[in-house]
Amino acid sequence: MTLEEKIQSLRKQVEALHFQTEQELEEFRVNYLSRKGVLNDLFEEFKKVPSELKKELGSKLNEVKILLQETFDETKKSLEAGESESNDVDRSLPGPRLAIGSRHPLRIVENQMIEIFQKLGFDLSDGPEIEDDWHNFSALNFPENHPARDMQDTFFIAPDISLRTHTSSVQVRVMERQKPPIRTISPGRVYRNEAISARSNSFFHQIEGLYIDKGVSFADLKQTLYLFVQEFFGQDTKVRFRPSYFPFTEPSAEMDIFLGTETEADKRLTKGTGWLEILGCGMVDVQVLENCGIDSEVYSGFAFGMGIERITMFKYGVKDLRTFFEHDKRFLEQFHSLS
Ligand code: PHE
Repeated sequence: MTLEEKIQSLRKQVEALHFQTEQELEEFRVNYLSRKGVLNDLFEEFKKVPSELKKELGSKLNEVKILLQETFDETKKSLEAGESESNDVDRSLPGPRLAIGSRHPLRIVENQMIEIFQKLGFDLSDGPEIEDDWHNFSALNFPENHPARDMQDTFFIAPDISLRTHTSSVQVRVMERQKPPIRTISPGRVYRNEAISARSNSFFHQIEGLYIDKGVSFADLKQTLYLFVQEFFGQDTKVRFRPSYFPFTEPSAEMDIFLGTETEADKRLTKGTGWLEILGCGMVDVQVLENCGIDSEVYSGFAFGMGIERITMFKYGVKDLRTFFEHDKRFLEQFHSLS
């Protein structure tokens, strides 16, 4: 490198430097400004420069020297200023009080549910919220002209792509990629094109469960859900199963828990019967197993699904589903002690 190039590169180096501590500043002084430093070497080299170049190179060298000196002086000044400033701070004073956040009630309840199912040996699975027709509908036996597919319930993005209407789509994905035994729950957000009211919203959250192995029976389904209910709602909670219909389970059922009709609220919630429906369930339809590449001669399984909002509303007496999504701290803070 010629002397001119060296001066140029030194300038670039110094401009890019950034110090934070006294020690870094001292290193800078030793490396660049001291008698053994880079600047001094350049002045030594300058002595050997032919006299016709001396004027031009000399002034360049001086400029860079001034830059180095200024960099040193200014940094020193600002380090000292910073120090005296921090000396004014009384570090023993208590800091400003920070507002402590809390988990969202839906997340709290989701976690409570996950914990119970994990104890029963279920793992967690996840899938996309934008889903294709196969995973949300076809693999699950929804006939081509099933009303749930039409524009009233489903937010379509393209003819064969929609926002998932349930997390059963995740279960299809799990069955496609994993060999039984499968024991998984899929919590997640789902979307339905419904009128927004105190009882329904255009999106909500579900937990769905799936258990597939050799010899899984309806008795296993009942026992699993029964254990869940006892853990979640209390040991003495009464449940009942009613026959129902879902395209992807056969037989299908809905499970109710008994609240009674003693209070006005319970009467209203249960429409006078004392029973509140909390989930849908059933034995996975053989055709669904086959659709997902599972041999239905060897394996059987059950599935269930429930809405997290609905269960949270019931457990904590929340009257309007919309309050979950309005970000009103006065509402959210009431769940503080649970998180
Ligand atoms: N996927 C159903 C729903 O969204 C719930 C369900 C899951 C029912 C599994 C039966 C079995 O309503």
